[in-house]
Order: sequence, then C-alpha cells, then structure tokens
Amino acid sequence: MEGFQKNSATFATRAIHVGCEPEKWNSMAVVPPISLATTFKQDAPAQFKQYEYSRSGNPTRDCLEKCLASLEEAQFGLVFASGLAATTTVMHLLSAGDHFITMDDLYGGTNRYFRKIVARQGISVDFVDTTKLELIPPLLKNNTKLIWLETPTNPTLKVTDIAAVVKIAKDFNKDIIVVVDNTFLSPYFQRPLTLGADLVLHSCTKYLNGHTDVVMGAVCTSNNELHDRLRFLQNAIGGVPSPFDCYLVNRSLKTLAVRMTQHGKSSLAVAKFLEQHPAVEKVLHPGLPSHPQHELAKRQCYGHSGMITVYIKGDDINITKKFFESLKLFTLAESLGGYESLCELPSLMTHASVSAEERAKLGITDSLVRLSVGLEDTQELISDLDQALKAAVA
Ligand SMILES: Cc1ncc(COP(=O)(O)O)c(C=O)c1O
Repeated sequence: MEGFQKNSATFATRAIHVGCEPEKWNSMAVVPPISLATTFKQDAPAQFKQYEYSRSGNPTRDCLEKCLASLEEAQFGLVFASGLAATTTVMHLLSAGDHFITMDDLYGGTNRYFRKIVARQGISVDFVDTTKLELIPPLLKNNTKLIWLETPTNPTLKVTDIAAVVKIAKDFNKDIIVVVDNTFLSPYFQRPLTLGADLVLHSCTKYLNGHTDVVMGAVCTSNNELHDRLRFLQNAIGGVPSPFDCYLVNRSLKTLAVRMTQHGKSSLAVAKFLEQHPAVEKVLHPGLPSHPQHELAKRQCYGHSGMITVYIKGDDINITKKFFESLKLFTLAESLGGYESLCELPSLMTHASVSAEERAKLGITDSLVRLSVGLEDTQELISDLDQALKAAVA
C-alpha cells in the first residue's frame, strides 16, 4: 500500500490453508465440512475424544479459530456470537472493584456497554483520548486491570500508538491487559499482538466476513493464561456462533488479502477525490498526509481499509440528508467492511447511544458522514459521490 510498510508475503497463503488441512477429516474434503452436531459420542462416561458438546468446542469452529489466530500471528483464536459478545466475554476477566481505561472515541455499542452495563457492575472506567499518550499515566491506579484501545476509531479514525500504550501500561504494572479492537483494519493491515498487545478483538461482522451476511466476534492471543481464562468464559457464558456461520467466515478469510488490497486502493483514491471537492469541509483517512496521525499509521499499519470519514460543508442536517438521498451506489445502512459500499450518519445511527454532549466533544456532528468503500469500480463510486455532493449543496 502507498506509503505504508510492507505486508507479510505469506498472509494470503495462511488465510487459505491454516486450519483447513484435508487430512484433519476422514473424507479428505478440500473444503472444511460443516459439523452441525451439538454433541459427540463418548467411549465411556467423561471419556471423549476431541469434542464433547458444541458450546465448548466444535470442529467447524476450530478450523476458523486456528485460521484467525494464524492471521493475527497469535497462538490462539476464539470466536463469539457477535463482536459485542466477544467484548462482554473479555470484560468478564475483570471483577467488581477493578478499574480500566479506554479510548474516548469508540464504536457506539462498545461505549454503551462500558457506560451502561460494565460501570454498573462495580467496575470503574476512565474514557480518554489515547492518541495523547501523556493523558494515560495520571489515570493508572493500583486496581487498573485493563486498557482498551480501538484504533483506528469508529467514526473519527483516530490512530493510537499501540506499542507506546503497551509500554506505559507494562512499566506501571506488567499484568495490565492491553486489548486492541482491530475491526477497522483486519489483520491484513494491522497486527496488534506483534506490537505487544495482549488481546486483539474483532467484529468479524465487518471485514473478516466481508459479505454482510454474518454477525460474529473474535479474540486472539498468544498468552496461555489469558487464553485458558477466555476459553473457560466462552463456554461458561455461552456466546458462541453457529457452525454454519463459522464456515462462512472461514470461507471469507480465503479472499481477505485480495479484498483488503482493493478496499485500501479504492478508499485512498476516493479520499483524495473528496479532499479537493468544494462541497467537502474535511476528510479523515489515515493514508492522507493531512491525517493527524498519518506518520504513525504508516509505521504501525500495512495500509488502510475502506473506511473514510467526511465532513460535508455547511454543517446542516438537511444538506447531509439530501446527500444520502442522492447517492445511487452507496447504500444508507449501518455496518461496514462488506463488498458493497455503505454510508451512514453516526450522530443518528451507529452512535445515537452516545450522549449529545459526548458526541459534540468528539466532533460527531450532523455533517459527519461515515463511508465504507466497497469493491465496486472506483471511478463509478467517485462519480456517485460527486453527483450526490453537488445535489446536496445545490
Ligand atoms: C469497531 C467495532 N467494534 C465492535 C463492534 C461490535 O460488533 P458486532 O456488531 O459484531 O457485535 C462494532 C460494530 O459495528 C465495531 O464497529
């Protein structure tokens, strides 16, 4: 990717082969079978081979977890019924009386879960702009157990220096768990565990599945102890995905490298076009030199996905609504990371659960539009945006 560091050459090969070796099942099928059984025969009471009951383990889920772990350069992968089920399971590593620190700009559902559920369970939290590293040390306390990063953030695409946050955390207390939500980039463009993070989390609903037809989450780690605790929680809490969905996401991983390469190329071309458009106030895309953390993104990531944040000139909800109405190729819908281009208004859609005061502080205005650039022809996408912007400001 233009300006970013080189990605590993074997990523695409691992995405296709790891966890899917035909020798694993008797039929030697080249495509992993979908194993729908909820239970598995035992030789004698409590003497089972590999699997016992599908909530605690399933052959199709195993294939996906192994493949995902390999892509994140992790020892272990665990998948969940949604990204938020993965988040919930991770937060069960904490107990009443613990404290954690998190980014102030987060996916709205994560923000809502932290503020309205975790905070009511006797766990205290500080929200802070983690791009400003100097703001973190004053918040660290003896009971700080975890730092939660989302980078780039949803929707303002702020990039946090993962290695620097890990150093701050571990210098204070080596047991602080650093979690990175890597949903916006996928392991193709960023691998937080290689930067020292303990856990990497995904909403697989987005780029990992990439076809807008599965809701799923994942957590990967190379820490044995954390893996054991999370594997226990995965079964004990029970937010697991179906074997059929595991099959679909595993299939999607086979094309992750080519999809991400195209999302990256196309979104940069779209961002450059938007940046010089007279109806646009500001464009946020870490691949643009104008992005506040452009140099960090080039150092930390291998490229950027299809995510672009655009402020339309005028700061007027009616202009933004007219823009949405005029688009023909971009569909107005929540979610992101699929082959189809989507657009949305975070202030009224994905981030409606964030308070108006918080939204104002974060710059989530009624003219901030989030685009997920899909895999359609780039020039056709640019023409669509151009005509909709012209119609909006006419
Ligand atoms: C960055 C990020 N993390 C987590 C989630 C939650 O994932 P899910 O919708 O799969 O529960 C989302 C959903 O949009 C997201 O954008």
